[in-house]
Amino acid sequence: MMAPDRFAALWRSLEPIGRGAGGGYHRYSWTYPDLACREWFSEEAADRGMTVETDGNGNLWAWLGDPAAGDAVVTGSHFDSVPGGGGYDGALGIVSAFLAIDVLAEQGARPRRPLGVVAFTEEEGARFGVACLGSRLLTGALDPQRAAALTDRDGVSLGEVMKSAGADPALLGPDPARLRRIGAFVELHVEQGRALTAPVGVASAIWPHGRWRLDFTGTGNHAGTTRMAERQDPMLTFACAVLGANKEARLQGAHATVGRVSVEPNATNAIPSSVTAWLDARAPEQSTLDSLIAAVTTRVSERAARDGTGVSVSAESVSPVIEFHAQLRDRIADLLGGAPVLPTGAGHDAGVLAAHVPTAMLFVRNPTGVSHAPQEYATDTDCAVGVDALAAVLEELACR
Ligand code: GLV
Ligand code: MN
Ligand code: MN
Repeated sequence: MMAPDRFAALWRSLEPIGRGAGGGYHRYSWTYPDLACREWFSEEAADRGMTVETDGNGNLWAWLGDPAAGDAVVTGSHFDSVPGGGGYDGALGIVSAFLAIDVLAEQGARPRRPLGVVAFTEEEGARFGVACLGSRLLTGALDPQRAAALTDRDGVSLGEVMKSAGADPALLGPDPARLRRIGAFVELHVEQGRALTAPVGVASAIWPHGRWRLDFTGTGNHAGTTRMAERQDPMLTFACAVLGANKEARLQGAHATVGRVSVEPNATNAIPSSVTAWLDARAPEQSTLDSLIAAVTTRVSERAARDGTGVSVSAESVSPVIEFHAQLRDRIADLLGGAPVLPTGAGHDAGVLAAHVPTAMLFVRNPTGVSHAPQEYATDTDCAVGVDALAAVLEELACR
């Protein structure tokens, strides 16, 4: 059994990286905290006699055994965070992976298949806007040229950022040979709501979800001299979009959030010339998600006509419903003594891998349900139970 103190010791070695003064994390891909996390990963892998490689998409892999042998069992998650996010989302899966490998070694379990730990690049899409960037590129779900041209909030492209970090953006893109070597993928993740009351659960599905960019245009003008009846103010159309998305989500049993906005010129005494906002929308069913987006689009278009503004709605990244591999899910739930099986509204690299490889997810209980915020956490005791559960799963899949 993993002692909670032992979990805590490894956890604390990673915990300070990228943590801001208010306790929130700022770990964005290819920034200093991300590179420091990668260094931590390489050291932990080396301590366990694992070989480390970075693929052309910046995903980091540590291996016990030769991955070229194929039918590998891989576990892992991501280091990156949302702006000011929690420390457990992603990192818990990587710390737990290394500790689970320790448990197997101490039990004398001998992997008969290659065993890998992966850290995917930019799962949150916090820097370049596309969620699950590394896993989408790996699986061919994202065009490498589009990816290389994505820019961060300072206008710097992924291609430029990779070059400055010594990586070659020409290597971005699908890696079917690497994917073919994976026989099963299991991601352990902190649960992100209050749905899990046992220490560990197994994922059944991920809701369909996506991100839409809303561009509102109007006429920049003086706040003091422009008559109210003569304005083309995109902030009004934007406000209608926020309230409309919230209302439609409540009416339709979906989730809709506008958590990011940028305004030009962003001056107190100027009517904005443009507003850009991002809508995150999720629903249990694809038809509900489609109907939510259609309803929001209709509402804002009608409002824009009244405001004399322009609006365009464009999808930035959209993920269909994911039903995890049923046999693997049931086998793992049985192995863990009838662990609860539950769906989630959160997106994961496991969801991207699931279209290509038998994939499963383990969730560790979140006592408050808070996530993507500094208060996100799981107890050391539950995390230790999570490590034992992951070790049992790896033993079942890789050592028999
Ligand atoms: C990732 O955490 C997401 O669901 O946005
Ligand atoms: Mn997240
Ligand atoms: Mn995550």
